[in-house]
Amino acid sequence: MFCVQFFSRHASVQKILAMSSVTRCTSKSVKHGRSVCLRSIFFNSVKYYPTTLVLGIETSCDDTAAAVVDDTGKILGEALHSQNEVHLKTGGIIPPVAQQLHRENIERIVKETLCVSGISLDELSAVATTVKPGLALSLGVGLEYSLKLVDKYKKPFIPIHHMEAHALTIRLINQVEFPFLVLLISGGHCILVVAQGVSDFLLLGQSVDIAPGDMLDKVARRLSLTKHPECCRMSGGKAIEYLAQQGNKLHYELRAPMRHHPNCNFSFSGLHSNATRIIMQKEKEEGLQEGHLMSCVTDIAAAVQHAVALHIAQRTHRAILFCIKSGILSQTNATLVVSGGVASNQYIRRALQIVTDATNFNLLCPPPRLCTDNGVMIAWNGIERMCAGLGVLHSTDGIRYEPKASLGIDISEQVGEVAIKVPSLEVSLNELATINL
Ligand code: KG4
Ligand code: ZN
Repeated sequence: MFCVQFFSRHASVQKILAMSSVTRCTSKSVKHGRSVCLRSIFFNSVKYYPTTLVLGIETSCDDTAAAVVDDTGKILGEALHSQNEVHLKTGGIIPPVAQQLHRENIERIVKETLCVSGISLDELSAVATTVKPGLALSLGVGLEYSLKLVDKYKKPFIPIHHMEAHALTIRLINQVEFPFLVLLISGGHCILVVAQGVSDFLLLGQSVDIAPGDMLDKVARRLSLTKHPECCRMSGGKAIEYLAQQGNKLHYELRAPMRHHPNCNFSFSGLHSNATRIIMQKEKEEGLQEGHLMSCVTDIAAAVQHAVALHIAQRTHRAILFCIKSGILSQTNATLVVSGGVASNQYIRRALQIVTDATNFNLLCPPPRLCTDNGVMIAWNGIERMCAGLGVLHSTDGIRYEPKASLGIDISEQVGEVAIKVPSLEVSLNELATINL
């Protein structure tokens, strides 16, 4: 097969054109929750001869998403159904509810994707689907549907690791060669890995308890932010970011966790407990019961966001220094990629920018819509795997989903043994906050 890494470098303008038309189509179809069949203008006017076309299907958590991507990195079409509003109402994801919503939407989303792309199932080179890690009931819907498709249309199947897909998304939009450092921060994950190849990762550190997005969602729920008129439809993390802009982060003291553990692991449950303690104290002072909006939500949001940013930036700083010291990454022209839902947070990005400026790394983040779960990253991972000749199955016998799955070779203990000291970031981050106030 002809692998078009070369073409992708020259197709950026086409990609942007294709992406913007696709975005319009997608947001329409998602917004109105019904089938909208629109072909991109670009593909209507130019006869198009693709080499490889992969349909990506994502159902690992609470988004039913699909996309068709080709081997030049063009997104031909995509569609997404978010369950966010339903789960906000129930105060978190209830797996059987997520499963039911995936079941109700998957066929429509795939059909819409193919329709927007102007591609028939027969024209596809393969189907790529998230099979790990994620919610068992959610993964099951995507896998079952995909297996029926590949069986009926006799297509190769590419099982996808959700975190690998997040990590490689950047290569769809930027020219990033292996190896590079990746920080994945989302509602379910928090990991620092070195991507050495399409399916070749070194795990430097991960959360020992919950993920940052999960923590932010829990704090947002405890603050009843769905009752806030401006944030009622936002995810917890987004609501915290929004309110933090108007808050004074120094009003409450929330220290970054694990200061005496010189490794690259993360922890967010202590931060969650401390934030809850502050909230309970304030409720007592204001004579309010749990479930009522407090006057100080902006200050609490700012303090929580600041502590999360500081913690993430410190651990990432250590990972960068470790990679340089051990020769895993070169000191010149090295890249840090940050992705996952929490990577949309501008304050956290700016904290990471301070770290990359200090270490001469390039900081790259996919655009927000490719940071959160989407079908494009799955399809692109399928393309990467086809180009590398890795994990393309012609028989799906015995294929299973795996709710738990680590990524790469775990070298986190060795990282901790080196115990690299990280310069304090607090002063620079405090200055960031002053700009915000
Ligand atoms: O990657 P993602 O869409 O799904 C997975 O968890 O895999 O990430 C969702 C998470 C949620 O916890 C959400 O609260 C968080 O990303 N999030 C944010 C922001 N936007 C979404 N966290 C902080 N700041 C944001 N702007
Ligand atoms: Zn994700």
